[in-house]
Amino acid sequence: MKFKLANIEVRIARANAKKKEGKITTKELSSIYDDHLEHVMALTVDEIHQRLSKVTVPDLNSVENLEKAATLLKNEGIFVVPDFLDTETVNKIQNANSNLFSKVNEFSREKGFYEDDSLAVQSTDGRLKTYSDFVDYGKPVACVRQDEDKGMVDVFNYDKLSEIAALDLKGIAEHEGLMSIISKRDTPLSLSNINLYFNKGTKSRGGFHYDDYGNNLKAFIYTLDATDLSFGPYCYVKGTHMDGPYRKLNKLISDNYKLNDTEAPLVPTKSIIPILAKSGSMVVTDQSGIHRGLPQEENAERALMVIRYR
Ligand SMILES: [Fe+2]
Repeated sequence: MKFKLANIEVRIARANAKKKEGKITTKELSSIYDDHLEHVMALTVDEIHQRLSKVTVPDLNSVENLEKAATLLKNEGIFVVPDFLDTETVNKIQNANSNLFSKVNEFSREKGFYEDDSLAVQSTDGRLKTYSDFVDYGKPVACVRQDEDKGMVDVFNYDKLSEIAALDLKGIAEHEGLMSIISKRDTPLSLSNINLYFNKGTKSRGGFHYDDYGNNLKAFIYTLDATDLSFGPYCYVKGTHMDGPYRKLNKLISDNYKLNDTEAPLVPTKSIIPILAKSGSMVVTDQSGIHRGLPQEENAERALMVIRYR
């Protein structure tokens, strides 16, 4: 109710009116995410490739392609380079990974935390908790996720793995072309760390989100094929790395309903790009744009080398 008192407008509202609107429940939020997911899963492979072609550069070896990649990153928050790694390098990484994962499986079955000179494996014993705990551990650490995240293994400090030392992953992460693109950013970034994320039959992958609203780039290199949606590819929403109506609305909803302020229940569906790609392909994205990993079919495997620049 409002009325005027002299020149002053007086509004009377119940103090708990806002509270009565209620908070969005996890179930309600999931239903919105499910709608978006349904849209993504109904995309045809042709439609996905059409969306992908608009953010792809053939390689990073010419001035023209470097400029194109830098422009895509600036305007769309993403660029993709198919076959960034040659087959021989990919094969070596795959061999190293199969040795790594047989060791990880062996140790995570028996102990909550295992460690030797070259590797630590954390499963049920959660002594390392934060992202920094893992990165700062100084050696490769495989975090074998439990419960609803079963099937996920995050390997931190992957480049320090003795089996792949000869591949010089740091050199790959600091590829001349890549660094020239990154140096063109308003605030230049440098290599922070290299991890490997492995998923097998993971259903629950969280919803669309922003990592943060800062200056944070990631390069994802597929070390296994993810050529259709059953593999649960990485998925990015182009153009959402800039301030705009979707970010503003997502922040308002998150604030109002006390969600993490990086959740993104609202997504422009036409801009969603599931990154279908063969092993060796690379996708570089601005992490202040909306993204998620898609759920996988049972027994489908996905492996990504994740290079972070800050
Ligand atoms: Fe993320």
